[in-house]
Amino acid sequence: MTAPIVVARGLRKSYGDLTVLDDVDLDVGHGEVLALLGSNGAGKTTIVRILATLLKPDAGTAHVAGKDVVSQAADVRAAISLTGQFAAVDELLTGVENLRLMARLAHLGRREVRTRSDDLLELFDLADAGHRVVKTYSGGMRRRLDLAVGLLARPQVVFLDEPTTGLDPRSRNGLWDVIREVVATGTTVLLTTQYLEEADQLADRIAVLDHGRMIADGTATELKRAVGSAHVSLVLRDGARERIATDGSVPDVRRILADVERRGVDVDAWEVLSPTLDDVFLTLTGRPTEPADELVLQESR
Ligand SMILES: Nc1ncnc2c1ncn2[C@@H]1O[C@H](COP(=O)(O)OP(=O)(O)OP(=O)(O)O)[C@@H](O)[C@H]1O
Ligand SMILES: [Mg+2]
Repeated sequence: MTAPIVVARGLRKSYGDLTVLDDVDLDVGHGEVLALLGSNGAGKTTIVRILATLLKPDAGTAHVAGKDVVSQAADVRAAISLTGQFAAVDELLTGVENLRLMARLAHLGRREVRTRSDDLLELFDLADAGHRVVKTYSGGMRRRLDLAVGLLARPQVVFLDEPTTGLDPRSRNGLWDVIREVVATGTTVLLTTQYLEEADQLADRIAVLDHGRMIADGTATELKRAVGSAHVSLVLRDGARERIATDGSVPDVRRILADVERRGVDVDAWEVLSPTLDDVFLTLTGRPTEPADELVLQESR
């Protein structure tokens, strides 16, 4: 990891008897994309809100861009942007008007307001729609505009809380492209997600949160490797199943299949399976991943 720009140590947060964060440590390197992965209620939004100065931890410390999120909150706010689960743009204004309004609020100079807005509209594929009122935008367009607004003041760290929840696969892919563009400019990104594929696609590193505890941290490859290796899965004629470990190479799989043939086993179907992030999640949390459908009812900002 590069030098950390987000550092949290021993974060704790409770509501009454409910422990929401239990001694959480977290580091995000300069220019890194960290995905904070966890199911509903794991504590993802709570961490993001603490790091973005919107919520005070009961215990522990956090620094963003070298500043303490509690005692130097204003400095932290100047260094970050936060895009929540729901687009926070004004429905009755056009995309361009939203951007220019927020740019003026961010104290950008007159000329920069214009060039920066235009650049971001272009980058986020909103140039054509820029003069339409946001009311007419699709969910994906709103998210892109919301993200663009967050980038006006060139934040060092961008927090994205479930950036693609509720988007269709096409819009999700579009937003992933946009996030990759942001990352390419050297911006550090901490995103939360329930989608393992999203973490796999975007993140340099994945931290897995479960019931307020960090239970794993590593690259997608490291996490997958930790839960097991690739195997050849056989479904036999009598319905029985067999798993044979493999390194996944063509010669090894060929050898395994030749052995199976030699044994005269009747095979109905076979495939080579590698561990997925789903397996990681399942293994680490001891339960299946939950679908994200109900999220809209749960936003807590
Ligand atoms: N203000 C609050 N008062 C009481 N409980 C709260 C409050 N805010 C959050 N919680 C609880 O804290 C836990 C963690 O919430 P949090 O929003 O951080 O989870 P999350 O991982 O973001 O979940 P989701 O995927 O559903 O967005 C949940 O059980 C939630 O009900
Ligand atoms: Mg949340």
